[in-house]
Amino acid sequence: MNDTVSYATKRNWNKLNTSEKDRLTRRANKRLSKKKFIPIEYLSNSKNAIVLQEILEQIDLKKFSIESVIYSLAKYLIDKKRIKNRNIKTILNENHFDYINEIEEYNWPQDERDLLGIVYQCLLFEGEKNQKGSYYTPTSVVKNMIKNLDFSNGQLFLDPCCGSGSFLMEIDANPNQLFGTDSDPIAVFIAKINMIIKYPEIDFYPHIECRDYLEDINLLSFDSEVLNKKFDYIMTNPPWGAVANQICSIPEITSKETFSYFFVKSFSQLKKNGKIRFLFPESVTNVKIHKDIRSFILKNCNIESFTLYDDNFTGVTTKYVDVCCSNNEIQKTIPVYKNNCMEIIERESFFETENLVFNFLNLKDREILSKVKTLGCYDLSESIWALGIVTGDNKNKVSHIATEGAEQIYTGKEICPYSVKTAQYYIKYNRDSLQQVAKEEYYRAPEKLVYKFISNKLIFAYDNMQRLFLNSANILIPKIKGMSIKTVMAFLNSELYQYLYIQMFGEIKVLKGNLVELPFPELSEKQDRDISETVTKIINGECTDEFIQKQVYDIFNISDDQINHIRSILYGKVA
Ligand SMILES: C[S@@+](CC[C@H](N)C(=O)[O-])C[C@H]1O[C@@H](n2cnc3c(N)ncnc32)[C@H](O)[C@@H]1O
Repeated sequence: MNDTVSYATKRNWNKLNTSEKDRLTRRANKRLSKKKFIPIEYLSNSKNAIVLQEILEQIDLKKFSIESVIYSLAKYLIDKKRIKNRNIKTILNENHFDYINEIEEYNWPQDERDLLGIVYQCLLFEGEKNQKGSYYTPTSVVKNMIKNLDFSNGQLFLDPCCGSGSFLMEIDANPNQLFGTDSDPIAVFIAKINMIIKYPEIDFYPHIECRDYLEDINLLSFDSEVLNKKFDYIMTNPPWGAVANQICSIPEITSKETFSYFFVKSFSQLKKNGKIRFLFPESVTNVKIHKDIRSFILKNCNIESFTLYDDNFTGVTTKYVDVCCSNNEIQKTIPVYKNNCMEIIERESFFETENLVFNFLNLKDREILSKVKTLGCYDLSESIWALGIVTGDNKNKVSHIATEGAEQIYTGKEICPYSVKTAQYYIKYNRDSLQQVAKEEYYRAPEKLVYKFISNKLIFAYDNMQRLFLNSANILIPKIKGMSIKTVMAFLNSELYQYLYIQMFGEIKVLKGNLVELPFPELSEKQDRDISETVTKIINGECTDEFIQKQVYDIFNISDDQINHIRSILYGKVA
């Protein structure tokens, strides 16, 4: 795992008012965390959480290693189920640890499909789980990902980082058609035992190897059955996070992201007409750093479907998406599944943005975008951009009290559409004592726009009072031919631009890199003057923004039906 922090990340932390030290400490703390928790959504029966907690509290982990607990529980389960498989002895011998007799005394739940995997996850500290990426996939997600697979013609399945075998166990096929690898020897042992328990009638040795799947990128490992095969289906939930000094090198993956390496290598092991399906964090669809894997997918794969999930895994607070691809002929449309609904989107829409954002636009969205792009001949790339002030020590340098020589300073919170609210803070503005300041001429520009950086909406305010802002606000001095600064603000605050931003970039941050991609139209002098004058009235509280909304829609010839569509995206269903 990589602990080096890029300039961009540091900058974002600054923008988020988080010092690098704090952030690193928090990240390190998570890695070192000694917290343990039961992976509730991984249980077949949630009532077992309490039972398991009570049992695990009784096992003295100072006396017994995790390996011993897992080995003993595995042996106990195998004996209890009277499993006949002749290979079981070999597997237990290969992983021999001290047998804990007390294991037999507990009332282990009988109705869990992966008791060993659950106990293992419960025994690992949060920090270890983070480092290994040992968050196993809930059955409901696995079931959804493997549904409709056909194994009737000897098709082969691989999970290249199989953990305790969550995917392998859920498939109904001959176990000799199922393959896995994982770098964690305990997980591999559990996966083998799980497979033996699932197929008590068949005498087989599970095709699960303990190896670093990314180590030998050229698939030249002679001691590996898995690496020398091609598969009909490769499906998994890969580990997440950037890797440092990875032995494998895939030039296309500049981010060094583990899940991207896993995807590219797995794709090379796919048979013709094969299917690859990976569970990714949702950031894979829109974050700039993952442009590399999006680009790989668009160059090499037919995208069969996307499925968006809202739930979180315990300890992993992110939304996730499963991406199913094949090496078949590329199809122009893609089904996207969310909450039991399906929508067809067009693959072409992924080429609408510089960063190849997977923006899930349907035909209606693309028609609107096309209208805007056809008339949008200008952008904000020639404009001036600046960050708010980073004091380095807000506690001591920013105060609610107006002391002598202190000046008002504003934060993102005070930014409303069109104007700023009363300042809550004061600062002694001595540029030399501040950690990061932009050029004085930007803060003191006769006119500037300020906007919230962390926001799921575009919120721009006008300032002609040379106000100071902290770094939860960013500054924009727009330069667009034929548009006054107030007119630019009107477009940015309009419903149409909110919609464009959300649909094109799917971000909850307002980033310069995205804003410069928004198209602006050519205006007549009269149009510019009318909009600008209306903005002045809005700022003075003399009118609402109704005229602006209508003007912006009219300029791009957006129809009533399209306006209804935009409003349903922004505000939910519109009657
Ligand atoms: C998120 S878990 C998923 C496990 C399983 N596929 C599932 O869905 O339940 C990721 C797994 O990747 C394994 N892993 C991490 N790095 C690996 C590597 N370089 N090679 C093979 N396995 C790896 C971890 O040990 C962990 O079991």
